[in-house]
Amino acid sequence: MAWAMQISKTGKADVFEKVMLPVREPGPKEVLIDVRACGVNFADVLMRMGLYPEAPKTPFVPGYEVAGVVAQVGADVTDYKPGDRVMAATYFGGYATQVCCDEVKVLPLPEHLSFEEGAGLLVNFMTAWVALHEMARIREGDHVLIHGIAGGVGLAALQLAKQAGCVVYGTAGSQAKLDYAKTMGLDYGINYLRQDFVSDVRLNVGRRPLDVVLDPIGGDYIAKNRKLLKPTGKLIVFGMSNAISGEKINILKTLKTAVNMFHISLMSLMGQNQGIFGLNVLRLWDFPIMRSSGQAILKAFEDQQVKCILSDTFPLEQAAEAHRYLQDRRNVGKVVLTVAQE
Ligand SMILES: NC(=O)c1ccc[n+]([C@@H]2O[C@H](COP(=O)([O-])OP(=O)(O)OC[C@H]3O[C@@H](n4cnc5c(N)ncnc54)[C@H](OP(=O)(O)O)[C@@H]3O)[C@@H](O)[C@H]2O)c1
Repeated sequence: MAWAMQISKTGKADVFEKVMLPVREPGPKEVLIDVRACGVNFADVLMRMGLYPEAPKTPFVPGYEVAGVVAQVGADVTDYKPGDRVMAATYFGGYATQVCCDEVKVLPLPEHLSFEEGAGLLVNFMTAWVALHEMARIREGDHVLIHGIAGGVGLAALQLAKQAGCVVYGTAGSQAKLDYAKTMGLDYGINYLRQDFVSDVRLNVGRRPLDVVLDPIGGDYIAKNRKLLKPTGKLIVFGMSNAISGEKINILKTLKTAVNMFHISLMSLMGQNQGIFGLNVLRLWDFPIMRSSGQAILKAFEDQQVKCILSDTFPLEQAAEAHRYLQDRRNVGKVVLTVAQE
């Protein structure tokens, strides 16, 4: 019998419930996966709090990505067979011991990667890849600022930007996080709790030194980022972490963050020769770009040019603990849930 950690109603981390799942036969083009590990994403926290518009109605099982072993395949599946080690983008439903997934969203898990690494790389590296290579089109020598540098997406983006020969700036909420990012190649770190990043960069580097900014924070960061962008610079916005602080929803803070994101003037973009992209990797899963990006990422892993940086792992039953850990900003890298083998 399969089981899952379900969000029964929106709220604090203790809303998680362990529920039994009916075992489902895979459809003709589906793969049934015995999950060994699943990735925890910041978006899971937002949807648990009721702040993620695309989340299904409660009750639902979150979990965008898993790694595991193929248990069964549908009649038309040709690329996988039972026993294969795979990773998959599940959209939802990954916090479970078994999940069915479209064949096109499944990738082989390279031999040298563990299940935990496999479960922790798809969303982070896809987001970072699309932002840097497909949207910003980074080039060697570009100056790139990455907010949340020590998080899952942040460390993936740092590695990809360094691999492309960029100069990387990053923000984080502690010196320890910045020190870690420096070991991964970060050129210039800013502790945003101690310094305003705009003043810091202006004082120490220059008025508008940046070619690219990756921003998952949102709110007032949008206007601040633009102050540092060169003409023709690009801002990639892919989150609004600023909307929450701790376990409680602060309606005023959430509204302020949203309002700042609604007001972007095309006239001012023209005037400053800047571009802004919005990125939602979930909405890209069905497009060919994901297949090509996935292949490119796998190649970078095979060549050992990048790696999945794991923060802590938690047993699947402790999904609530994992969420608290992420929300308390304790992670450096990716948080992963694991399924014990009997
Ligand atoms: N649009 C997309 O397609 C897409 C895809 C993946 C991720 N994202 C977004 O990218 C961001 C990073 O995601 P992730 O899964 O890699 O998470 P993560 O960065 O591994 O973990 C969260 C980190 O975010 C920072 N943070 C900033 N504001 C926070 C807040 N209000 N509460 C808690 N932590 C906060 C903390 O680092 P500091 O201590 O350094 O502040 C924390 O350690 C999130 O905003 C997420 O929604 C978007």
